[in-house]
Amino acid sequence: MLRLPTLASLLLLAVPHVLADPCVVFDANFNLYTFGLNGKDWNAGTQDSWTSGTAQDITASGRPPFDGTGTTCYMAQFYNAIYVMNGDKANPSDIHIYDAAAKSWSTQKVTTGSFDPSNFDVILDHDTNVFYGLSKGEVFFLNMDSLKAANPAGLSWTDVEASPFDASYEPVMALAQNHIHFLNVPGTPAGDANIFVIHFSYFQPEPQAFPLSDGSALPATHGQTASFFQEAGVQQEFAFIPDDGSATYVINVENNSTAKLPGPSTKDPKATYAAGITSLIQLDSTGAVSFLPYKQGDAATNAAAAWAKVANVAAAAPPGPNSNAANSSPSASGPSGSGTPSKTGSAGSKPTSGTQNMSGGGVDGTTNNSTDSSSALRSVGSASALLVLAGVFGIFACML
Ligand SMILES: *[C@@H]1O[C@H](CO)[C@@H](O)[C@H](O)[C@H]1NC(C)=O
Ligand SMILES: *[C@@H]1O[C@H](CO)[C@@H](O)[C@H](O)[C@H]1NC(C)=O
Ligand SMILES: *[C@@H]1O[C@H](CO)[C@@H](O)[C@H](O)[C@H]1NC(C)=O
Ligand SMILES: *[C@@H]1O[C@H](CO)[C@@H](O)[C@H](O)[C@H]1NC(C)=O
Ligand SMILES: *[C@@H]1O[C@H](CO)[C@@H](O)[C@H](O)[C@H]1NC(C)=O
Repeated sequence: MLRLPTLASLLLLAVPHVLADPCVVFDANFNLYTFGLNGKDWNAGTQDSWTSGTAQDITASGRPPFDGTGTTCYMAQFYNAIYVMNGDKANPSDIHIYDAAAKSWSTQKVTTGSFDPSNFDVILDHDTNVFYGLSKGEVFFLNMDSLKAANPAGLSWTDVEASPFDASYEPVMALAQNHIHFLNVPGTPAGDANIFVIHFSYFQPEPQAFPLSDGSALPATHGQTASFFQEAGVQQEFAFIPDDGSATYVINVENNSTAKLPGPSTKDPKATYAAGITSLIQLDSTGAVSFLPYKQGDAATNAAAAWAKVANVAAAAPPGPNSNAANSSPSASGPSGSGTPSKTGSAGSKPTSGTQNMSGGGVDGTTNNSTDSSSALRSVGSASALLVLAGVFGIFACML
């Protein structure tokens, strides 16, 4: 009779109990936010304020419950708005909009069609404010227009076409210079990126190399990305952090080079990232937030930079088993995650979930003290390339 309980216990350990995934993102003034961390939302302020004090609790009405997995956040720089996907498990197609100036939330209803909100990877294009991405190998876009608050008329994902990448490709994609850069594409040489030119809906036929200064290539491996913003204008560089955390690579698409910087102190393939202008942020699966100071074009400063904790977030929301707990409803079962963990380009941050303590909590997640686990269920992401839609958005390209 002992065997049954034992087996049951093993199964409980093996079956992930999914709690919420927080996300990190900047606003257009480069205040750093962590949403859904320990059940609340936090404004850590600008970079000069991260290493002391306590982040501000900005948990406000109208926010998503942040009870979903694969939660992603994106900053719309022109509008100082933050878009949240998968922030509400009960309404996975919704996009929650945070107006960072007004500090107000609204909920955008979105018609998904064949877009699968549990299985996608997208970037938010800087100039057009259009999401482009893949869901199950199909290319989609969603025009966020100039929204700082929900459009009552609703929005729709538009299916453009099938992606050209092999179905096995687990996308590693990043936005810079209105191009989507796909790393680790099967069949593409190590260190090269396949490029999609957003405003012309055009896949460059040849991959582009981004060699390191010593002539070596980026490792051909899965990882996460985050695009560095500029004070104004499009992103020119993005960070790539391989899943093993062995280094931080910064790819510059102006001169097609790559710089190698220290990897994050916490090696966590489930960590997610966001970038501002002068920092790269890691949110690991325990809820710890760290940053690497960065200065574009200053190789000496970057070479000497070190990762440090965003201490004011840790003071407000200590990392640990509670960090992913949505302070809301019981979460009965996770989504049957088929999606591969993946990142989200540019302005985004990615989903995380912890793996620290598989024994706590329960599958039902009825306490907010549950430990989380299994990032395996993270579902955002899996597709690959983006193509694009052109026409309408080509007009924007001409404005550049
Ligand atoms: C967790 O639940 C306890 C009561 O069980 C409550 O006092 C506490 O505020 C909750 N934590 C959060 C982060 O909401
Ligand atoms: C960098 O790569 C892009 C994309 O392939 C290309 O258009 C551009 O000419 C390259 N720039 C330089 C300086 O090589
Ligand atoms: C490319 O530009 C970046 C940013 O200005 C600079 O740090 C880097 O040294 C340049 N690399 C090459 C090979 O010119
Ligand atoms: C995991 O959580 C359980 C229950 O809260 C606790 O007893 C145990 O010490 C924790 N283990 C670790 C390694 O944190
Ligand atoms: C959860 O944590 C809160 C405070 O962190 C504590 O008061 C409460 O007793 C805990 N609940 C359980 C079920 O452990």
